[in-house]
Amino acid sequence: MPYANCLEILKDAQAKGYGVPMFNVLDYESAAWVIEVAGEEGMPVEIGFYPGFAPSFDPVVAALTVRELASRVKAPVGLHLDHSPNFATIAPFLKHWDSVMIDGSSLPYEENVKVTAEVVNICHPMGISVEAELGHVGSGSSVDDIQNSDHYTSPEQAAEFVERTGCDSLAVAIGNAHGHYVAAPNLDFDRLAKIRAAIDIPLVLHGGSGIPDEQFGKCAVMGMSKFNVFTDLNVGYAEAIKKVIDEKGTSRGMLGAMLGAKEATKEVIRHKMRILNPKGLRLY
Ligand code: 13P
Repeated sequence: MPYANCLEILKDAQAKGYGVPMFNVLDYESAAWVIEVAGEEGMPVEIGFYPGFAPSFDPVVAALTVRELASRVKAPVGLHLDHSPNFATIAPFLKHWDSVMIDGSSLPYEENVKVTAEVVNICHPMGISVEAELGHVGSGSSVDDIQNSDHYTSPEQAAEFVERTGCDSLAVAIGNAHGHYVAAPNLDFDRLAKIRAAIDIPLVLHGGSGIPDEQFGKCAVMGMSKFNVFTDLNVGYAEAIKKVIDEKGTSRGMLGAMLGAKEATKEVIRHKMRILNPKGLRLY
């Protein structure tokens, strides 16, 4: 299917009750393998691009690669620009992206509203959708970031934030955090239910690695639509390469390592996708 619009992908997920994984990719192989698995599973997917990866994976090459690979599978594939702190970071991507995140979640509330509304006002006339974040999804290396509900999203504030900014989707903090978790995540599902009832745009879960499968799937059942995953893919990929080299040595070089790591890395991707289709819908 031709490359698809991210917001359309999320609206379909919200209407039908499944979750769309967004994998942040770091090179051609990780992008190609995510799209390959999406095709095999018939599962819509978003390819996430973190602006900080631009020095090692040229953004234009990445965008054109995703479009070409998307045209070869049946499932819709979107392209999203992840965590951008300001419009200056987003601007160089506007030609090739139709979905961006403005992350003002570390700012005081009023400043988050201001920077988000500014980005929305520029992006919407260009047909680009905007994800914002309210509450702050911190680092899994900090127990405070994981467990202190002061960082979590307020359902009442979420309704006001969406109204004032016009953002298209909202990343929420409910006990999720980025990277490895030093304390087991225990997501606040009561809060998720209240947020879901307070706003009707797609909800996004960042920090999708290391969350127990049943909690991950329950979020999809409760109406969360997009699930960001990086660490599980990044580490799974590295571990798969290490295993090949440990078992077979390096005589076949990087080619042997990459090809040898492919199936194991694809299984990490497949596992996440299957959890996010809890009703077992035949999608594509
Ligand atoms: P993880 O690295 O914890 O999977 O988080 C990814 C993420 O949220 C990217 O936006």
